Amino acid sequence: MIAWDETMSTGVAIIDEQHKMLFQKFNDFSKALSGMTARETAGEVLDFIQFYATWHFDQEEQCMNEYHCPIAAKNKKAHAEFKKTFGQFYKQWQSGTMTTELAIKTYTELEHWLVNHIQKIDVQLHKCINSTD
Ligand SMILES: [Fe+2]
Ligand SMILES: [Fe+2]
Repeated sequence: MIAWDETMSTGVAIIDEQHKMLFQKFNDFSKALSGMTARETAGEVLDFIQFYATWHFDQEEQCMNEYHCPIAAKNKKAHAEFKKTFGQFYKQWQSGTMTTELAIKTYTELEHWLVNHIQKIDVQLHKCINSTD
């Protein structure tokens, strides 16, 4: 399970809200993986993340561009990598060929990626908002 805290604050309320939503959905999927909910529910959660993560990335990339964030290009590149990894995971899961063991392993890596990405890259939005230009 992952939890949002102030170390992940970007200074942009709507972006923080989107991160919290992503965390909530990631945790919903974790619950599904540990057998607490049905497999169909897990599939629906993944559908949501697939759509929502892409939408969030677009919003955040626009935001960084507006504030002329030096990290904008790096952020965009990282998003592309996540989309690729998640996309593969999503396809495998939907085709039913993935073992629970592999699902947990891959999913845990994606979770770590998300937390790490927010703490290292997304939070840099803070300085961009505060700099006057
Ligand atoms: Fe990001
Ligand atoms: Fe983000």
